[in-house]
Amino acid sequence: MPAADMGPQAPEHVAIIMDGNGRWATARGRPRLFGHQAGARRVSEIVAACPELGVRYLTIFAFSTENWKRTQAEVSGLMTLFRRYIIKEAQRLLANGVRVRFIGDRDRLDPKLVRMMDDLEELTRVNDLVHLTIAINYGGRDEVTRATRRLAREVAAGRIDAESVDAETLSRFLDTHTLPDPDLVIRTSGEARISNFLLWQSAYSEYEFVDTLWPDFTAEDFARVLAGFGKRERRFGAVLA
Ligand code: IPE
Ligand code: IPE
Ligand code: MG
Repeated sequence: MPAADMGPQAPEHVAIIMDGNGRWATARGRPRLFGHQAGARRVSEIVAACPELGVRYLTIFAFSTENWKRTQAEVSGLMTLFRRYIIKEAQRLLANGVRVRFIGDRDRLDPKLVRMMDDLEELTRVNDLVHLTIAINYGGRDEVTRATRRLAREVAAGRIDAESVDAETLSRFLDTHTLPDPDLVIRTSGEARISNFLLWQSAYSEYEFVDTLWPDFTAEDFARVLAGFGKRERRFGAVLA
């Protein structure tokens, strides 16, 4: 659906909790990693659909700070998948005008993966059509904690006056400091919870929970959810005339 059909209400920033890969694979009698591979292919499809749908910012939850609790085999399989995704998609993302950023704590990630993430950010820095942000080892509480730690250091060093700290100050220390807040957060797989995703940033986001498992979530499904968003009335605490 062209952006024009959705009127002025097309969400500028959509965030997605891509959930259900494991159940999708299990339902097919396959290992969970098979589901993650299918999920990665969906990412490419959804990213490619963004320009036509008028989505300028897309933020996707790929690995949470809690996902380390999974088996070592699944965790290392996912890390390998992230490296493969970068290798496979880098040139296409560059050619398609996608600027890639990563959010989350990089300290616990393999240095080789971190280097590839840095390189992809650098490579696509020139792009401005779609801003794709991939959350790896990301947790909302962890992000706010790290931001607070850095802010506290600035206060302790006398560079920021504690009394001047407001919400905007803290926002500048978040991983997402260059991004607008998400207008719409989508979670697939039927779970209705946010699982520590963009806690601060989604204060006024609309939520859409869809039953479809992530590997089955097509560009058409995405367009349908976005069209539904266009009909919502966002009040931000005010009373609209
Ligand atoms: C989401 O799918 C991907 C990651 C969390 C990495 P899951 O792996 O959580 O799939 P389910 O929820 O077990 O089906
Ligand atoms: C959230 O999904 C994290 C990602 C999609 C990366 P989970 O599957 O980890 O969340 P819970 O455990 O169901 O809350
Ligand atoms: Mg899950």
